[in-house]
Amino acid sequence: MTTVEKNALYSKVFSYLTTPLLVGLFLYGLNKKFGKTIKNWLFASFWNRAMKEYHSTMREMKKSHFDSMQSHKSADVELRKKSVLRILEIGAGPGANFEFFPKNSKLMIVEPNAFFEPMFYENQHKYPDIKMEKFIINSAEDMKEIEDNSVDVVVSTLVLCSVTSVEKSVKEVHRVLVSGGKYYYWEHVHDKAGTWLHFIQSILTPLWSFLFDGCNLNRSIDQTVLGCKVFSQVQQKRFDIPLKKGVWGMVRVHVMGQATK
Ligand SMILES: C[S@@+](CC[C@H](N)C(=O)[O-])C[C@H]1O[C@@H](n2cnc3c(N)ncnc32)[C@H](O)[C@@H]1O
Repeated sequence: MTTVEKNALYSKVFSYLTTPLLVGLFLYGLNKKFGKTIKNWLFASFWNRAMKEYHSTMREMKKSHFDSMQSHKSADVELRKKSVLRILEIGAGPGANFEFFPKNSKLMIVEPNAFFEPMFYENQHKYPDIKMEKFIINSAEDMKEIEDNSVDVVVSTLVLCSVTSVEKSVKEVHRVLVSGGKYYYWEHVHDKAGTWLHFIQSILTPLWSFLFDGCNLNRSIDQTVLGCKVFSQVQQKRFDIPLKKGVWGMVRVHVMGQATK
């Protein structure tokens, strides 16, 4: 091969390599800078539609889970006289739980995905008896905007699977609750050890977490709540949701609980 032919070959190889390399670098940069934003936007857009079946199927069960909130009294004397309850919901998403909150509630939200905020307010219009106090863009692990002993009730549904630390989040929930305040949680959990589902949930978690915004299939949230040993009383029970097909099968084991400070 002559030098001219060699140079022509090198420049051909170089031109073949540079385009994918530049595209790769561009995508990498894009992912580094905007990856989280794009993921948050995708998740917020997909969540509402994906969860229609879940919410309609679970509605009655959730209603009875939250039922005792209707008779829960605020620790604040003035608010109690007016039958107002201070509720904090963590990871509210587009607002799936308005219908379970007592009328006259004052609601605060802590939600890290800002793309949910407009959807949440759109939903809130349908519940004019619930007064929005604040929508805080932050995570449950560090709710510094909320004072100690300042809310009567904390709610989370399908959130602790995604937080960075369940223990930190539960301790924060405990910090912001007044004495006698209640934490209502409703979460999917790792099936008991020795079952096929337990095994599949364990091996599928890395991929699942990548696809579904950091959701972990392998968390024993009920054990962590108990293990934190911060609440004076914890009542919780595991149950299977009636949805079993497709992806629902992976999250069919749930826990519903009420923890009292
Ligand atoms: C699976 S969605 C559930 C949404 C809603 N609670 C429901 O029941 O439909 C999980 C929610 O938790 C939020 N989330 C994720 N990590 C969180 C964290 N560290 N602190 C609080 N919320 C978080 C997500 O942004 C999302 O809104």
